[in-house]
Amino acid sequence: MAVKQARISIDREIEVSKVDERIYASFIEHLGRAVYEGIYQPGLAVSDEDGLRRDTLDLIREIDVPLVRYPGGNFVSGFRWEDSIGPVSERAHRIDPAWGVIETNEFGLHEFMNWTKKANTKPMYAINLGTRGIEEARAVVEYCNVKGGSYYSDLRRKNGAEDPFDIKLWCLGNEMDGPWQMGHKTATEYGRIAAEAGRIMKMVDPSIECVACGSAGSWMPTFASWEAEVLMQSYETTDYLSLHSYYGNPEDNTPDFLASSVNMDNFIRSVVAVCDYVKAVKRTDKQINLSFDEWNVWYHSNEADKKLEKWVQHPHQLEDIYNFEDALLVGSMMITLLRHADRVKIACLAQLVNVIAPIMTSDTGAWRQTIFYPYMHASTMGRGTVLNTIVKVDSYESKHGDAPYIDSVVIKDEEQETLTVFAVNKDLENSYDVTMDVRQFEGYAIQEHILLTHDDLKAVNTEQDPDQVKPVRVQTDAIDAGTLQMRFPAKSWNVIRLKKQ
Ligand code: AHR
Repeated sequence: MAVKQARISIDREIEVSKVDERIYASFIEHLGRAVYEGIYQPGLAVSDEDGLRRDTLDLIREIDVPLVRYPGGNFVSGFRWEDSIGPVSERAHRIDPAWGVIETNEFGLHEFMNWTKKANTKPMYAINLGTRGIEEARAVVEYCNVKGGSYYSDLRRKNGAEDPFDIKLWCLGNEMDGPWQMGHKTATEYGRIAAEAGRIMKMVDPSIECVACGSAGSWMPTFASWEAEVLMQSYETTDYLSLHSYYGNPEDNTPDFLASSVNMDNFIRSVVAVCDYVKAVKRTDKQINLSFDEWNVWYHSNEADKKLEKWVQHPHQLEDIYNFEDALLVGSMMITLLRHADRVKIACLAQLVNVIAPIMTSDTGAWRQTIFYPYMHASTMGRGTVLNTIVKVDSYESKHGDAPYIDSVVIKDEEQETLTVFAVNKDLENSYDVTMDVRQFEGYAIQEHILLTHDDLKAVNTEQDPDQVKPVRVQTDAIDAGTLQMRFPAKSWNVIRLKKQ
């Protein structure tokens, strides 16, 4: 064990972009116990008069999630939105072929909109462009966003919502490039239907924004040509292009696993390049930005999920129990997204409760998984403007290429007069003494250094032992003659916050 040196350089005037708060979004799919037993469980003492779990609402408000994507995911590609409205007793029970389960529709569109209010968040609603088409797309926007006086808007009012839901952000299907997707399409087929769906939806409500499906991952054989063709077909009506990425460590190679953020970074750069290529071909001033609307670690539950019985209701599915090294990678991925804040305007940690999630529940409580912490810290302390952050540090060879030992991003908030450093030290053996010139931030002092570390990379939080992996406050840092001196211990997530005195 040694202490190594590194330097972070910023300039107060050299900004990447203001952070769009939607970069801290999340995702709830009708899948496993995300909805049922996750956010909705009538009959529990902890649930409110609408059957919404107060314990998960509290934890979601603690993260301060600004936006939640809903209702899928693979689920949405076979979903009939009309099944999810009207009297609950009359709602159809349907099979969901995507996940091999029964969906009762007991929790539907109105219940979700009610939940978003209590969770202090906004909806990002996905439409089905797999088994359905532009007529259903038109109808659901009319139902949600038209004031009244038409069939679907009056149906919403009859169902108890006098005011429009006013949903501003819409996903045009989900992972339509994936052969596993119900109604899977070629890039040209999807590009055409996305263009026409987006067009008719904006005819109903011109104030909405639309996210078209990019690839389900950069590993897809059609990656990049898919993006180019979809945008060639739908550029005029698309506002954002989606990216999805999940990483795992099945070979138990932690350095390679932690280097996955390099892969994510390359993915973002490539999609930006394709968007700008199509912009040039189209000779337009309009810029397409990115919606990284599924990102996380996902692999722990794969084997268990293969053994699940079919056609049951809300089984334990995709219930990854996250360990400490997963929290380090989630921190690095969050940093990667923020470093691209000029183009990544929306990003959804997938998902929010029980299903590959930062929050877990049982009938007796709710608790924070390890990955809860970097996500919550970034969301609550990472609002402001991203500064161009240069990190001078050693790197190591990985299967994703050269990986710096330290990932970092610095965010200033001129209104709150704060400066926040997020950093992950991926070195499993060595600490780093890191300096940063802060002379441009005269009068700022260290408010806190929050540290998440653990001796055991595989340590987890459980209902019985929820604080195994938990952040602590440390006081080793100093500002000396305009230089901030920080120590990042081996394998650690760090938040250093400065505030003007
Ligand atoms: O988040 C779990 C699943 O991952 C989603 O349903 C799908 O879009 C992706 O493949």
